[in-house]
Amino acid sequence: MAWTNARSCSSGYSRVVISSPGWDRAAGGPRLMGASAERKRISSLGREPRGAADCLAAPCDAARCGTVPPRRPTMSSQYDLLAKLSEATAAAPYRKYFEEFTFFNALGDVAGRTVLDVACGTGLYSRRLKRRGASRVLGVDASQGMIDYACHLERESPLGIEYVVQDAAHAEALGLFDVVVATYLLHYAPTRQDLGAMCAMLRRSLAPGNRLVSICMNPDVQLADPGYYRPYGFEVHSRGQEGDEARLSGILPDLPFTLVAYHWSRPTYEAALRDAGFRDITWRRPEVSPEGLSAMGASYWDAYLRQPHAAVFTCVAA
Ligand SMILES: C[S@@+](CC[C@H](N)C(=O)[O-])C[C@H]1O[C@@H](n2cnc3c(N)ncnc32)[C@H](O)[C@@H]1O
Repeated sequence: MAWTNARSCSSGYSRVVISSPGWDRAAGGPRLMGASAERKRISSLGREPRGAADCLAAPCDAARCGTVPPRRPTMSSQYDLLAKLSEATAAAPYRKYFEEFTFFNALGDVAGRTVLDVACGTGLYSRRLKRRGASRVLGVDASQGMIDYACHLERESPLGIEYVVQDAAHAEALGLFDVVVATYLLHYAPTRQDLGAMCAMLRRSLAPGNRLVSICMNPDVQLADPGYYRPYGFEVHSRGQEGDEARLSGILPDLPFTLVAYHWSRPTYEAALRDAGFRDITWRRPEVSPEGLSAMGASYWDAYLRQPHAAVFTCVAA
């Protein structure tokens, strides 16, 4: 998936499209949606990555980061766009009070542990993990634009997080970590084969006995009404059929976006994880934090918790 921007007028960005899988292997960059005039690679705004080895050598900074310090002034508008989108969705009640709460309950204490954050995006969870005391966090994402922005934040407020651009389905070995997290990765696998390759990469990054903690689109969701999640700020268009596209559209008035993923069933996820060498796959019960209950009221969550759009699971490297 790539967070992509589409200019609809010369004065700036007015529409955001988040497309998946979004990674155009032939072009070596994010696949953008929309008119051909809009098909610009985010990474064309900066230099190409120097490679994982450079990125892994030191915490991200302008001199060492294997990703992209800005080369053109237009990068600042890219940062602004990504910041706006990232902040807008991170603050949504379902992310803050449900997703983050359920995820960290599943993850437990990370103090002193090394963590690989696959599909780190702009580093939202990478930063949370480091602030919770992880000894080392490496964020990996297929999108150059996402990693550019994550590096920008790291330069602004250094936490010692490292970032690298890699496609999880075709990743180089990144070493072994105490924990691997993958928030919103696996449903971007466009094929069963890609799903298997992503799971294999996650497994390769863990010694036996260590855990993967992941968030994916809820495989059990069956929606007759795409507007089911409208009270929560988005819509999901999905027939719930194996391998079908599932589109999540934000309805923020000034920042509409569409994210395209794939629907995989629970047995498909579990088979891919087992084939990759994971055991003890456990789907977590969805939970809303006490703050979320008091901030929004218990009844706000009734419909969401009947069919949360996302699911958290853990599994252990066999
Ligand atoms: C919805 S964002 C989630 C970002 C972050 N994990 C979070 O929870 O805020 C999904 C991310 O997955 C990344 N992604 C999609 N396919 C990927 C792949 N094959 N390898 C690595 N990253 C991928 C996208 O570039 C995007 O940044």
